[in-house]
Amino acid sequence: MARTPQQLDEIRRRVAQIQSWYHRIDLGDGIETPGHFRMADYLRYYHFPERMDGMRILDVGASTGFFAYEFERRGAAEVIGIELPSWGDHDWTPRYRREFEAKAQTEKQNIDREVMLDGFTVVGEALGSKRCKRVFQTIYDLDPNKLGQFDLVFSGAMLMHVRDPILGIQKMRACCKPSGRLIVSLSTTMPDAKDPIARFVGEWNQCNWWQMSPRALDEILKCCDFDRIENRETYTLQDVTGQFHDPTYVCHAFPRQD
Ligand SMILES: C[S@@+](CC[C@H](N)C(=O)[O-])C[C@H]1O[C@@H](n2cnc3c(N)ncnc32)[C@H](O)[C@@H]1O
Repeated sequence: MARTPQQLDEIRRRVAQIQSWYHRIDLGDGIETPGHFRMADYLRYYHFPERMDGMRILDVGASTGFFAYEFERRGAAEVIGIELPSWGDHDWTPRYRREFEAKAQTEKQNIDREVMLDGFTVVGEALGSKRCKRVFQTIYDLDPNKLGQFDLVFSGAMLMHVRDPILGIQKMRACCKPSGRLIVSLSTTMPDAKDPIARFVGEWNQCNWWQMSPRALDEILKCCDFDRIENRETYTLQDVTGQFHDPTYVCHAFPRQD
């Protein structure tokens, strides 16, 4: 449906109110969110089904929502985006958490609004989304008794940020229908390693814990009740400036049929 000039101005105004966008998302009528990563350029590496009609999809670590809204655009019946309610809820070190907690309440609220909360909402409203909603919780609390099970569970570029990626994968496995699949991407500086290597890369003020080789992710997935790994891809993610380069591994994992 055509948008009025007033509606377009309102979308531009709301986009401009947010300083920190993760995704660069096409909102139509020449409006784009000014995010760091234009994931539309990399979609081919993810091998998502072209059409997702009727599917229930879980997007874990949805951020500003590029993938969640892309799944809805492809026809998904329902998309749930999982995101942390607050910046402070990441798996920080105690020292970083102490320093963050010591900030003024208004500063913490601004960080949450800018980085964690508003982007996904602004995009959904601009696109007229009807079948995408967000649930605020950590990956560790995913529970099929609360959320049900899904045809597709997706986790893009987030397992590096959790202290216990194996528990995260177990939780996502529990939310996969037996006929479903998990699609995972992660940053890997070891795309060619033959061994299943995980390297600790933690620092006190970063929420980046593990680098895994693709073989390591495959083996962990197999340990977590997935038996078939398909659509294995590696590509280099760049930000829109071309200065940031991140080798990335993507694969599809299918639940073991008991
Ligand atoms: C690097 S962004 C990736 C965004 C998007 N999935 C993509 O592939 O472009 C990682 C996202 O995971 C979220 N995240 C980090 N730890 C999380 C946790 N324990 N539970 C749920 N989400 C988490 C972050 O807040 C962030 O939005």
